[in-house]
Amino acid sequence: MNRTHHIAVIDDERESLAAISRALRRVGYQVDSYEDSRQAMAQLERFKQFDLVITDLKMPRVTGMDLLRAVRSVNPEAGVLMVTGHGTVETAVEAMRLGADDYILKPLDLFELRDRVRQILESRAPGARGADPSGRSHGVGATRILGDSPVMQDLLEQLATVAPTRSTVLLLGESGSGKDLVAQTIHENSPRRDRNFLPLNCAALSPTLLESELFGHEAGAFTGARQRRLGKLELADRGTLFLDEIGEMPPEMQVKLLRFLETREIMRVGGNAPLNLDVRLIAATNRDLAQALSQGSFRTDLYYRLRVVTLRVPPLRDRTGDIPRLAWSFVEVFAAEHRKRISRLEPELLDRLVQHSWPGNVRELRNLMESLVVFSKGDTLRMGDLPPELRIGQPAATASQAVPPRFPDLNLDTIERQAVLQALERSQGNRQRAAQLLGMGLRTLQKKLKEYGLTTRRQQ
Ligand SMILES: Nc1ncnc2c1ncn2[C@@H]1O[C@H](COP(=O)(O)OP(=O)(O)OP(=O)(O)O)[C@@H](O)[C@H]1O
Ligand SMILES: [Mg+2]
Repeated sequence: MNRTHHIAVIDDERESLAAISRALRRVGYQVDSYEDSRQAMAQLERFKQFDLVITDLKMPRVTGMDLLRAVRSVNPEAGVLMVTGHGTVETAVEAMRLGADDYILKPLDLFELRDRVRQILESRAPGARGADPSGRSHGVGATRILGDSPVMQDLLEQLATVAPTRSTVLLLGESGSGKDLVAQTIHENSPRRDRNFLPLNCAALSPTLLESELFGHEAGAFTGARQRRLGKLELADRGTLFLDEIGEMPPEMQVKLLRFLETREIMRVGGNAPLNLDVRLIAATNRDLAQALSQGSFRTDLYYRLRVVTLRVPPLRDRTGDIPRLAWSFVEVFAAEHRKRISRLEPELLDRLVQHSWPGNVRELRNLMESLVVFSKGDTLRMGDLPPELRIGQPAATASQAVPPRFPDLNLDTIERQAVLQALERSQGNRQRAAQLLGMGLRTLQKKLKEYGLTTRRQQ
């Protein structure tokens, strides 16, 4: 922290107010606390100076939502973190829509609280805004890639660099790992965000249809083409075209796409006037393109053209640290959608989720959480609610033997500790490499090891 951040905490429960304020002061923040939200409202002018406002949602007379709106009106730069008790998740989701940065459930885990606070302050630091690919942008429909793991942080960093350019991007990743989401996020963080983002699945159409989908056609170009139809490329002019499953694109279309990338011109099918277009292309595949190249089903020249900027979306089993947060976020979304109140995930269930190998990646996790929410009876999701095949599934291929397989709860400290252990295991005790894997400096790692009372194996 290069300057002391100033935080306001508003909570009508005296004990919770004291605990939050104390936890934040202890790590060096300057904190003003308000037990009465009306008093906070009365001093709204003061809120211009806060970097972050943490407010309870349910308070008499002036609620957290009222405060959120008021704070936003005097200080749009301030971060807002909502604190909410059981059963108000829906309102919290609504608060996010209205511009809160995040929310956290009671009973509070103070470690988690501090982590969220740090994340919000970092994402709102000057320079972080606008280019923040985690989508802490506000407003309806803002996409949000969740991922605190080092591999995802790497990806988000690359994404932030690439997004503002016009470079063609190739996304590689297993099915369900988040390629669509990444493509959208690139678009939303580019100067093209106000123009179209159009996806086109290359595997879903016959070659002829694909051609007319991409390039459009003139009236009478072929039987059935009664009217002129604009293609996706033309519709994505000054925007972004997302070509999914590019590995399945038929060879004759590959030639035409290559020609477009070289000339930036298209011709509608049956037309004779070239159109000059400014389209940013993002292509994705879950196939091994190198293999397709060697088999000759994918053109080398097109491949080289596409792969200049290649982003790899890691499979979920390589970022198990993200699983609890992802699981919770899906629970929240589906609980709101299906009007359920879920306030707790049983630790055993979380353990199991972390250990599963997730061949279907985030999509599989998302679908599972939806079905758990839909069939839930009480306010807790339990291990016993899992389908039998998941209850006894194989541990993730990369889960290391030396790492305790349990994930006792959502405590971020515990998760961090496990990530540190895994990194050391993978780097065979080499701290320098482990620090790299974790995306932290060597000294930070050493500090953490000391904190945890961990010793490593001899350096190799
Ligand atoms: N990091 C993430 N944070 C939050 N949600 C995610 C994340 N990654 C993926 N998802 C969600 O998981 C689901 C699957 O992701 P997506 O459709 O982007 O995968 P994909 O790689 O395009 O899959 P496919 O290869 O099958 O097209 C979507 O609902 C998406 O919003
Ligand atoms: Mg996809």
